[in-house]
Formats: sequence, structure tokens, C-alpha cells
Amino acid sequence: NQVLRLGVAGLGTVGASLLRLTQRHANELALRCGRPVVVTAVTARDRFRDRGVDLSTVTWHEDPMSLAQSPDIDVFVELMGGSDGPAADSVRAALDAKKHVVTANKALLAKHGGELARRAESNGVSLNFEAAAAGGIPIIKTLRESLAGNRVGRVYGILNGTCNYILTRMEREGIAFDACLAEAQRLGYAEADPTFDVDGFDTAHKLALLTAIAFGTEIDADSIYVEGIRSITTADIEAADELGYRIKLLGVATRTESGIEQRVHPTMVPKSSPIARVDGVTNAVAVEADFVGRLVLSGPGAGGDATASAVMSDIADLARGDVVGTFGRPAHTLQPYQQAVMRAH
Ligand code: HSE
Repeated sequence: NQVLRLGVAGLGTVGASLLRLTQRHANELALRCGRPVVVTAVTARDRFRDRGVDLSTVTWHEDPMSLAQSPDIDVFVELMGGSDGPAADSVRAALDAKKHVVTANKALLAKHGGELARRAESNGVSLNFEAAAAGGIPIIKTLRESLAGNRVGRVYGILNGTCNYILTRMEREGIAFDACLAEAQRLGYAEADPTFDVDGFDTAHKLALLTAIAFGTEIDADSIYVEGIRSITTADIEAADELGYRIKLLGVATRTESGIEQRVHPTMVPKSSPIARVDGVTNAVAVEADFVGRLVLSGPGAGGDATASAVMSDIADLARGDVVGTFGRPAHTLQPYQQAVMRAH
């Protein structure tokens, strides 16, 4: 059967893991997808850095643009990050060149997702992004496909591994915020600019994507109330503990009579709640929907291997020819986002 040829842009933590995954599981993937899935071309800022993966059989491209438009790839896998610049330009170019796009880039989609979904549709290709929210947890497919028969009332959870890692270590070991953040960076969890993590914007980007799928609305990250964890101290955590609570950075989107309410802020969660028990870099997402009731999914929210696992789930869909649409419905049917009157929190 015909090989599905992947062009991977960005060989950081996630890109290197994706190459390892495609090499290690080549036979199994070919069986599951009905055809071989092979990384044939790559581009990255530093060609000579040792990433611990075999790059001897791939073609190098000087820049993302040339890779995106290459006739030698079927899927452009964007793992560079950034809401604009080379990531946005190359994704647009790939879609216009009628390549499917798989991306883990939540900042890009939170800003341009509607436009990019329409561009994919008009070019007859797919734009998939399972890895853009909650790392290894299959929450995009869950909302978009498994819960297609439900009306969702609320989706919420711990969507940033770096913040949850920091809060957990502050609580368990009394270590100060800055030292915990440095460790999260060293472990490859944090964004290139970690202010996105600790100030809540990464959570907001992911929440905006979940909202669009769960409620069928246009993406609107700008209307999210956002507050991060920078001002949380070990004393705050201890005080919450004495009252029977743990502090978690939550993203919450709720359907109300006046529209959708989206918010991101540190929240006191009762210790008895499943979300309170989620530690370290783990994420958890809860969905409340009319027919299924409440689901809680938890798992690794960051890190190269878990994120590569999610990227591969999108690639496998493409290899099998599954088409569900970026947001699980034609992009022109997304409703205008109507912001709810915000309650106090
Ligand atoms: N920096 C992100 C996090 C990576 O810590 O959750 C996954 O999006």
C-alpha cells in the first residue's frame, strides 16, 4: 500500500519523540493504518544537534516554507510553536498546497484556528490537533467524536502540566515557585516562554480550543478571564490545605443562558474531588454532558513522548482516510461566540 509521507517541522522535545515513535512502531503502525507511515523530510533550526534519533534517511529542508510546499510529503506536521511567524506561514502554505496538517500548536490555533479550519476545508484537506490540548489525553477526539451525541454543559480541568507540577512540588516539598519552574523547564514541560505557562495563557489557549469543539462556537481566546499562579505562595497552599482544599489552576468553560463563560484562574478544589488528586505534570479534563453524564480523563499533559503519542493519533486517522473536520463540524457552521455575563468567582 502507498506510504503516507510525513514532513516534520521542528525537532524539539516533541519532534524528536515523534521520530522515535515512528521508527520504533513502524510495523505495528503499518498494520493498524493499512499502510506504512514514514517521516521522509524534516526541518529544524539546528541541523547538527544530537537528538538521539536516526535522521540518516530523511531529507533536510532549509526552512519550514520549503518543507510545507514540498511535493514529496503528504502531511505537514508542525511542531515549532508560536502563534504567528514561521509556524503560521508554513501551515497556511501547506494547506494551500493541499497537504494535510497535524499540529500541536495551541497558541496558533487559539488565534487563527477558525481561519485555518476554513482554509483546510476549502482545499479539501484535514487540520488535526489532538496534541494541542492536555498532551497525551485524547480529549479532542473525545469531545469531537466520542461525545458527538451529547449536548455539553461544561468542560473544565487542569490543562497545564508545568503549573500543576509547580503547585504539587510547592505543596509536597515546600519548594519555592522559581526553583520549581526551573525544574519544569529542565524536564521539557514548560513552553519556550514559560510566562505562557505560569500566567495562565497556555491554559487559556487550550480552553479556547475545547470550548469551540464542545459548544460549536468560533474560537475566542481573547474573552477568557485569565489569572495565573505567579502570586501563589506556599503559605496560600498551606492555608487551603487546613481548610480541606488544594489549589489548582483550572480552565473552565460553562454553557449559560446568556452565552459561554470561559475562565482560567487558581481555584480551591475540595480534596475529595478527583481533580484535587491529580499531581505533578498530569492533566485532567472533566466533561459534563446530557446523555453520558460526567467523564474525567487524566494523564500526562506535557512531555515529548506523551505529546508525540497524541500527534500520531492524528496521523493514523489521516493514514486510514478518516475525515471528521477540524472542530467535528464544517467550520462555517460554528456559531458566533457569545460571551456570558461573568459571575464572581
Ligand atoms: N507547557 C505545556 C504544559 C506543554 O506545561 O502543559 C503542553 O502543552
